[in-house]
Amino acid sequence: MSPEASELLAEIGGYLTEDPPALSLPPRAFASDELYELERHKVFGRSWVLIAHTDQLSTPGDYVSLTIADELVLVTRGKDGGLHAMSPICRHRMMPVVDTGAGHTDRFTCPYHLWRYGLDGKLIGATYMRRNEAFDPAACRLPAFAVEEWHGFVFVNLDDTVEALAPHLSRIENDLVNYRLDEMVLVGEWVEEWHCNWKIAVENAHENYHVMGFHPETLEPSTPGRSDTDLRDDTPWALRFRIRLTEPQQPTVLPLDDDEKAHLYDFFVFPTGSLAAAGETLIWLSMIPLSIDRTQVRGGMLVPGAQLQGMSEAELKEMREGVESYAAMINAEDRRGLEAVQRSVGSRFAARGHLSPKEPAVISFYQNLARALLRSDGEWPGAL
Ligand code: FES
Ligand SMILES: [Fe+2]
Repeated sequence: MSPEASELLAEIGGYLTEDPPALSLPPRAFASDELYELERHKVFGRSWVLIAHTDQLSTPGDYVSLTIADELVLVTRGKDGGLHAMSPICRHRMMPVVDTGAGHTDRFTCPYHLWRYGLDGKLIGATYMRRNEAFDPAACRLPAFAVEEWHGFVFVNLDDTVEALAPHLSRIENDLVNYRLDEMVLVGEWVEEWHCNWKIAVENAHENYHVMGFHPETLEPSTPGRSDTDLRDDTPWALRFRIRLTEPQQPTVLPLDDDEKAHLYDFFVFPTGSLAAAGETLIWLSMIPLSIDRTQVRGGMLVPGAQLQGMSEAELKEMREGVESYAAMINAEDRRGLEAVQRSVGSRFAARGHLSPKEPAVISFYQNLARALLRSDGEWPGAL
């Protein structure tokens, strides 16, 4: 590692001291190729990454294909009803067997020499391979990743020897009991590409302070940037903060308590996953690096299934269009701003800035980042 990268890592490690600095990350944290390589290995090679809601993988044959920090990932709903996660890189000569995106199929046929793989990643057939005796088709399969479904949210881990995710989310699970996640239904979804480093998108999602700047007409009336924010970050790799709403929500289906009616609850699962519950709507988001300066923003909105009963196909479609165009508008507000921030990271005048007391969760995100970057191999989740 170069002296500059070591110095950068030491600065990030500073967030783990007893008195962490209330400062933003050093600008080089968003532009250092060496740090990005380290993130690929230490963060994205070993963390649970939220990639979809189960409604996007509801039927055997459904699949979602994406990249996580330059690593191709394919997740399928198998014939057995279970989820499978794997690398889609063909075992013959490295052609990806599927494009990134989503779809439905009963098998994956490599476009190069037509080897075929099942939904579980096992080789089904390979043309003209019989006379190569060294090749054992029964042992040939796409390499597996770990996948876990947690109350409808699909998480992938590129390290399939890793500990299960659910025990680490038990505290958040308790917090979300009244939102009845298992009865929630996806009513809109989106995948966008933002031209910024993933941490610029994630730190932005960890604070409501920017709402006064980026969302003056859309979010500021309901969750003003000045709102009280309180943070609880005593769950390893996950945290909860809540923001007081201008007006309490009046739920019709969910048994929300007074605090739940009065707040937007935001949950983060390091490194990229976020669930934001306000009244009877819940928005999930995941900001996943495509490269050092491009981020895929995946997300969707959920409501209690009971609210949809009796709605016609046309009404559901109209609802979906409304949800997706609203999300596109909010996302565009963030994207425009964050892409401008990205353009500043290489400036000679870019510098660490002082954070506001309205941004406590940003520091928690930096602390998790530091823990992940500094953890030794095999250590997960690591002591807090
Ligand atoms: S690379 Fe896939 S069949 Fe040849
Ligand atoms: Fe925003």
